[in-house]
Amino acid sequence: MEFKEEDIADVWNEPPRYAIITGANTGIGYEMSRILAAKGWHVILACRNRQRGISAVNDIISDVGSHARIEFMELDLSSLDSVCNFVRRYSMKLRPLNLLINNAGIMLAPHALTVDGIEQTFQVNFVGPYLLTSLLLPKIRGSASADFPSRVVNVGSVAHRWAPKQGVILNMTTINDPSNYQRWGWYGHSKLALMLYTRKLCRDLMYENVYVNCVHPGVIRSDLFRHEGSPCLTFESLRDSRVAGEYFPPFFGAAGKLINFFAIPFYRSKASGALTPLFAATSPLVTQV
Ligand SMILES: NC(=O)c1ccc[n+]([C@@H]2O[C@H](COP(=O)([O-])OP(=O)(O)OC[C@H]3O[C@@H](n4cnc5c(N)ncnc54)[C@H](OP(=O)(O)O)[C@@H]3O)[C@@H](O)[C@H]2O)c1
Repeated sequence: MEFKEEDIADVWNEPPRYAIITGANTGIGYEMSRILAAKGWHVILACRNRQRGISAVNDIISDVGSHARIEFMELDLSSLDSVCNFVRRYSMKLRPLNLLINNAGIMLAPHALTVDGIEQTFQVNFVGPYLLTSLLLPKIRGSASADFPSRVVNVGSVAHRWAPKQGVILNMTTINDPSNYQRWGWYGHSKLALMLYTRKLCRDLMYENVYVNCVHPGVIRSDLFRHEGSPCLTFESLRDSRVAGEYFPPFFGAAGKLINFFAIPFYRSKASGALTPLFAATSPLVTQV
């Protein structure tokens, strides 16, 4: 089954429906915001950089029209204070929250600790979204009805398979230790944690009108590969990870760029990557995983 933009219901004539999308200034998040705004949703672009966030809002308004209900709110998932401030500011607006899409993410970043002393990929991809969702949950629950269930969509990745073999590591000393750091392995680890959190939320909310799902958007040409200095995956990066190194021997490094060059056209567009999470976010066919 192919899900298309036209399949997303228009909500212009309903009471305002509110969606928060994290990491919405570029990539898949930007496309999801643009599409939902065109369908009449009130979209909050939750981005870490004010200038990039406002510029994305303006671009969407020029695309959709000045009637678009769209705004920027600052949120940096690498700071737990920023997450708490965001929730405080959203709560002060006394609005419902019908949809939360935890989309923001980083991949293959160099090892670094956040201001909270947590390895940055783990915090941005899991700890930040976990705190954000937990704090917004009363609002999400309170906005849900049988006619219009609330939804949480976590943008995961098949890369959860690259997580360390023992599964989610619960020891922060091990997670933070630079000598353990594997760029692919730690990205997979953060996505595995997000997926398991999704399952827990599903169980907790089983008897409520709140649907929680986790989706892989496909392999998309986006800025996600920015830490590689390349728009796409390189075999060098795979080889760099000790986990992936078990599968990709060193000689792949030399051939990687060439293979990659031919693979780029097969990567999906950002707009197409947006449709999978939006299917989980809006389709009446989707309830709970
Ligand atoms: N692209 C793929 O092939 C692919 C495959 C599987 C899963 N995914 C997942 O899809 C999601 C979106 O990725 P994308 O491909 O659209 O990547 P992208 O183009 O790099 O967009 C990532 C977004 O996350 C934001 N972000 C990064 N760090 C943040 C922080 N500390 N606080 C708040 N926002 C932050 C970025 O903001 P700035 O622009 O300010 O950095 C950007 O808006 C990610 O969760 C990714 O893991 C992507």
